[in-house]
Amino acid sequence: MFTEANSNTKYLTWQEKSFTVLDMTDLLDRIRVCDRCPELCKDRKNVVIGEGPIPAGIVFLGEAPGAEEERTGRPFVGASGTLLRTMIFQAGISGYHILNRLKCRPPDNRPPEPEELINCRPFLKEQLELIKPKVIVALGRYAQSAFIAGDPLDIKVTRIAGKVLELPEYRVILTYHPSFVMRHRNREIQRFFGNHLRLAKQLEAGCPLSVLP
Ligand code: URA
Repeated sequence: MFTEANSNTKYLTWQEKSFTVLDMTDLLDRIRVCDRCPELCKDRKNVVIGEGPIPAGIVFLGEAPGAEEERTGRPFVGASGTLLRTMIFQAGISGYHILNRLKCRPPDNRPPEPEELINCRPFLKEQLELIKPKVIVALGRYAQSAFIAGDPLDIKVTRIAGKVLELPEYRVILTYHPSFVMRHRNREIQRFFGNHLRLAKQLEAGCPLSVLP
């Protein structure tokens, strides 16, 4: 099930059955039977764990699966996902991993509840420990709230977009959620978003922040 990209990158998706890495199989099994959020697991059709190579230099972190993601079991495959994946391609990024804060779809695509974010957090932590990204692109306030303390509703994404958090394990680029970029159809926002994606590529390549434009 792997395609070798280089000697230490193995391509596989979390959904694939033939894992050779025990930790991942175990994590996948636990996420599939998780019942910590009664409202989310009640009518769940699929969990959406994420996809991409392990390890991966860049992780794109979103909010939660929508209808199309739940149906297919894959992250960011709806309209905003198409925009995201197109712009990632245009930024020259490949070999990335895409994840969400929540692995289950909230009913009617409502925003995640605080306790759901807490319940799902240990899975995200385990995933990041396995994927070992250098850079995380945090798409919107719910992704950003994994790294910024307090109520996600207090995060003003338009004010902090483009900022980089320097954490011991990785750098986190704070940017818009692609559905915001899609809704606004605003050239300026699209240009900023494209710049943030290119910044991820530069940081992955090891550019020090101080010499970036
Ligand atoms: N929005 C997200 O945050 N994640 C998805 O997977 C799809 C839409």
